[in-house]
Amino acid sequence: MTDHYAVIGNPIAHSKSPIIHEAFRLQTHQDLSYEAVLAPLDGFAPLVQTLVDKGYRGANVTVPFKLEAYQLCNALTERAKSAGAVNTLIFAKDSIQGDNTDGVGLVNDIEQNLQVRFADKHVLLLGAGGAAQGVLLPILLAQPASLTIANRTLEKAHFMVQRVAVAHAVCNITVTTFEHLNPPSLKQPFDIVINATSTGLTASRLPISDQVFAQHTLAYDMMYGRETPFMAQARATGAIVADGLGMLVEQAAEAFYVWRGVRPETATVISHLRKSIN
Ligand code: ATR
Repeated sequence: MTDHYAVIGNPIAHSKSPIIHEAFRLQTHQDLSYEAVLAPLDGFAPLVQTLVDKGYRGANVTVPFKLEAYQLCNALTERAKSAGAVNTLIFAKDSIQGDNTDGVGLVNDIEQNLQVRFADKHVLLLGAGGAAQGVLLPILLAQPASLTIANRTLEKAHFMVQRVAVAHAVCNITVTTFEHLNPPSLKQPFDIVINATSTGLTASRLPISDQVFAQHTLAYDMMYGRETPFMAQARATGAIVADGLGMLVEQAAEAFYVWRGVRPETATVISHLRKSIN
C-alpha cells in the first residue's frame, strides 16, 4: 500500500517540496506519494485531522503554520521544542508527533555540501525570529568555538537563547546588536555568518560592517532564489557566499529519513533544483 504524505502551507503552489520528495522517492524506491495541500488560514488543524482520517502517514508544514503545528502535537522532539515550531508531522497511532528538521538541514548543508565544519569556528547568527530559533540548537550541537547572535531587538535574542536550556553549557554565546559588530567592539571577522533575518524579503540591507567578513568566511543566507543585500555585501568583501537552497533540500531529506528510515542522496537533487530556478 502506498503511504501518503503532504506539505501544508498557505500559499503552497510555489513549494519545491513535492519535486524534492518525488526525487527522493525515485531514488530510494519507497512506495509513497507526496503532494502540496493548501490549508485555509483559519483551517490548519481541521485539515491535519482530515489527512489523519484519510490514513496519511505524515506531513511537512510551512509558512504560516509552523507555530500552529507546534501547538497541535501530542509529542515533540527536543529540536522541535527548542525551535518552538514544527515543520514535520508524524502521524502515529492515536497521536501526532512534531519534529523540526530545519536546523539540521542548515547544519548538514554547511558541513556536508559546503564542506565547512562548525567545530572550532566563530559563528555569527543574524536574527532572532522564527527562522533563527529553528536553527539555534542544531548549530550549538555542531560545537562552534563561539556563537554571536545579533538582532535589531536585543530582548528577542536573549529570549531566544533562554529557550534553549543547554545553550550556555555548549559554547560561548554572545548576544548583541548590529551596531556592536563594528570595530573596536568587533575584534576579528567571523568564520561563518548566517543570515536568518527576513530582510531578504524586503531587500533591505542590514546595518553590519564589512569587517564581519573575511575572504575565508562562509556567508550563508537562509533565503534562496535571489541575491539578497546580505549576499551582495558579503560577495563584495570577497567572502564565500551561499544561499538556502541546500538547506531546503537537506531539511526535506531529514524529514524523509524521519518518516522512512532511509537517507536520500541530496547533491544531485540540489544541483537539479539549482538549474531549474536559474
Ligand atoms: P522569520 O520567521 O522569517 O524569522 P520573524 O519571526 O518575523 O520571521 O523574524 C524576522 C527577523 O528578521 C527578526 O530577527 C527581525 O528583527 P527584530 O527581532 O528586531 O524584529 C529581523 N528583521 C526584519 N526586518 C529587519 C530589518 N529591516 N532590519 C533588521 N532586522 C530585521
